[in-house]
Amino acid sequence: MSFPGAHVDDGAVIGARVTIAPGAVIGADVEIGAGTAIGSNTVIHAGTVIGADCVIEDCVVLGKRPRLRKGSSAASGAPLPGLVLGDGVTVCCGAVVYARAVVGAGTIIGDQSQVRERSVIGERSVVGRGSCVDFDARVGDRVSIQTAVYVTSGAVVEDDVFLGPGVVMTNDDTMGRHPKGEGLEAPIVRRAARVGGAAVLVPGVEIGEEAFVGAGAVVSKDVAPRDVVLGVPARVVRQVTDADLLERWR
Ligand SMILES: CC(C)(COP(=O)(O)OP(=O)(O)OC[C@H]1O[C@@H](n2cnc3c(N)ncnc32)[C@H](O)[C@@H]1OP(=O)(O)O)[C@@H](O)C(=O)NCCC(=O)NCCS
Repeated sequence: MSFPGAHVDDGAVIGARVTIAPGAVIGADVEIGAGTAIGSNTVIHAGTVIGADCVIEDCVVLGKRPRLRKGSSAASGAPLPGLVLGDGVTVCCGAVVYARAVVGAGTIIGDQSQVRERSVIGERSVVGRGSCVDFDARVGDRVSIQTAVYVTSGAVVEDDVFLGPGVVMTNDDTMGRHPKGEGLEAPIVRRAARVGGAAVLVPGVEIGEEAFVGAGAVVSKDVAPRDVVLGVPARVVRQVTDADLLERWR
């Protein structure tokens, strides 16, 4: 196979029908599954494993190593094996997906978004343009993360959750003034919950299954399953009706 204008390391394993555009750089031991297309000026770092029929657009970086300040809470000390992308994953222009992240089959990582090391994203989810899934976060299947969302490190976002544009999760009430390795508490968003645009989740809150958080709310206490909460601070105003449950909309 020849890929004019691209650099492909000798140790890379390239499947059938793979296309690699000019300017792409494919590192050592990278594996690219059959039918995958790699865009122009994309850099794929050593050890990255990409499934079949993926679309990796232009100017993407896959398998980036984190650059951390001394004492950063992101440091684990463990070596970082390669990034793993499942079959049919799409990574759009300018996105950066770090080493040791795992992205499930059929998921779309939007333009200029960032998926950090040791985070796991399930199948058929979407990470919207400019959003960040921070290190050690867990995102389930069929999750919709819209534009400019911050999923903080250690957060858990279960299957079928919807996070509206500009949702911000936080995980540190001290804003950095805590002993190393202590004090961080990320939110948990349970299955099929919906969080409206620009809502803020303070550290450690749990949003219950099928709950609904209105646009602009600041959630400072746990939200029970099916509660609808609005405002600053968020207060319960009603319940999600049977007719509005996800199972009615599949
Ligand atoms: C909650 C929401 C669904 C509106 O619900 P609603 O029952 O139709 O609300 P209404 O427009 O009838 O307003 C009822 C009252 O709640 C207030 N209210 C409505 N939305 C509110 C919100 N997000 N935060 C605080 N108060 C809100 C209204 O001002 C009104 O107050 P009043 O009774 O004092 O006049 C809507 O505001 C919302 O948050 N939608 C989510 C949109 C979103 O983020 N989508 C993401 C993808 S784009």
